[in-house]
Amino acid sequence: MNPEIEKRRTFAIVSHPDAGKTTITEKFLWYGNVIREAGHVRAKANKSYTVSDWMKIEQQRGISVSSSVLNFPFEGCMFNLVDTPGHQDFCEDTYRALTAVDAALVLIDSVNGVEKQTIRLMNVCRMRHTPIITFINKMDLDGRHVLDLLDQIESVLQIKTAPFTLPIGVGKLFKGVYSIAENTFHTFNPDDGKQEIIQMEGPDDPRLVELCGENWVNQFKEEYEMVTGGMDPFDHEKFLKGEMCPVFFGSAVNNFGVRQLLNAFAKLAPPPMIRDTDKRPVKPDEDAFSAFVFKIQANMDPKHRDRTAFLRICSGSFTRGEKVFHVRTGRDIRLAAPTAFLAKDKEVIDHAWAGDIVGINDPGLFRIGDTLTDGEKMNFTGIPDFAPEHFARVTLLNPLKSKQMAKGLAELSEEGATQLYEPLKSAVPVVGVVGELQFDVLKFRLQSEYGADVQLDRVPAHCIRWVKGPEADVGKFAEEYAGDCMMDKERNLVCLFPNEYRLNLALKNYERLSFAETSQG
Ligand code: G4P
Repeated sequence: MNPEIEKRRTFAIVSHPDAGKTTITEKFLWYGNVIREAGHVRAKANKSYTVSDWMKIEQQRGISVSSSVLNFPFEGCMFNLVDTPGHQDFCEDTYRALTAVDAALVLIDSVNGVEKQTIRLMNVCRMRHTPIITFINKMDLDGRHVLDLLDQIESVLQIKTAPFTLPIGVGKLFKGVYSIAENTFHTFNPDDGKQEIIQMEGPDDPRLVELCGENWVNQFKEEYEMVTGGMDPFDHEKFLKGEMCPVFFGSAVNNFGVRQLLNAFAKLAPPPMIRDTDKRPVKPDEDAFSAFVFKIQANMDPKHRDRTAFLRICSGSFTRGEKVFHVRTGRDIRLAAPTAFLAKDKEVIDHAWAGDIVGINDPGLFRIGDTLTDGEKMNFTGIPDFAPEHFARVTLLNPLKSKQMAKGLAELSEEGATQLYEPLKSAVPVVGVVGELQFDVLKFRLQSEYGADVQLDRVPAHCIRWVKGPEADVGKFAEEYAGDCMMDKERNLVCLFPNEYRLNLALKNYERLSFAETSQG
């Protein structure tokens, strides 16, 4: 494989809010020499500001709304970290981000164990067979028992664990971690932050007792025996299939265990892998360039009204200014100023390779899932579409802004922030979202970015269905169900069924029609 492609490691962090994702991201950037003072970013600004905070609303609510992409070098590898919103109401954005990565870091809080959001996101990883590396964070707190945590990962997240390190002590008495493969002890010292790596003869080395005390070492030895004797050894093939994950223990806020984790990512996580299209599998080291759009974000720069499409490059490379083929429209387009990202700072790059995530200026051309190639007509598959679960009518409160509202709604729906529908029997647009908080963001963004004040009135609905089939039947259905029918942005007919009864009736009376849960279904 081309060495440039081989050194790419593109991953996302999967975790429940508060597990320490922001903290560990800052440490990664510090190791990558991208920021100078990891952990001080927030403290220094003395407000809840973090490197990956992009939007005002994030700061207001203290949650990450949009996924940002961060690039950093480490130990000869080039990492692309696709950051993901932690709040469950933005899971759609996170699911999409997971389609763009080759591996994931699962971050678990040692006190809370496996939490809800992690379970949901792991389901997506499992579906995609994403290789997983697990970091159990906050070992400086009185967390759960090591074997309980491993057991929970295996039973709840349904993945085999292979601990690479084991902690000795816990909470205030956390002494450090023992590396099973290397027989080294890595000392933890929260007071002066000093860390030492000491080569040991093995778990019976008397220096361990000197350093950690007999009780802790005895407990560690029991765990060591359970892990090395009773569990399957690490199997790289199983790891690549997403069936087994290496596990590390540490404390992100104390910058403890983070370097080992990054080393493991560099060594174990795969470079870009083969990806499927509707025509053929695409190998990363093919000469021909190919990529897909997995995210669109508008107005990242408040000074310029801009929109950025995020591309995951799947094969080949491209150079700034090169022309590429936009498969959906059949047009050649020039990628004038591809950018790499360090949160707020954009940097124009000249060259990007398979595995990289780059942002390109989007003049309103792109949609999520679009494929770009050197000319070949093919589309990357497996970029899921999500059925919205909550719906609302959008009423404009300042009528002079109707153009702005229409523009805002259209752009925000292309961006994937919401789905937009045009009811057959009303001029008032309807929006659909997966998580309710997206409504707040929509309202906020329409106001702050487009100057349109809107009121959102919930439309109670049982479910939405895309209605497909012979034209005459679709027409008849649309007439009968006109009050519940709407058009989506591709001019497909959708029906918002108010209750299960109406859905069952339609299924019974319109046997020749299909009622799909998503537009792709
Ligand atoms: P998130 O992005 O996953 O939501 O989590 P974030 O990094 O913001 O961390 C959540 C809280 O957990 C933060 O505390 C952070 O300092 C703390 N934390 C992260 N890693 C560790 C660790 O290893 N040990 C301990 N004890 N705490 C950790 P906070 O009080 O919410 O914010 P802050 O005031 O510290 O910034």
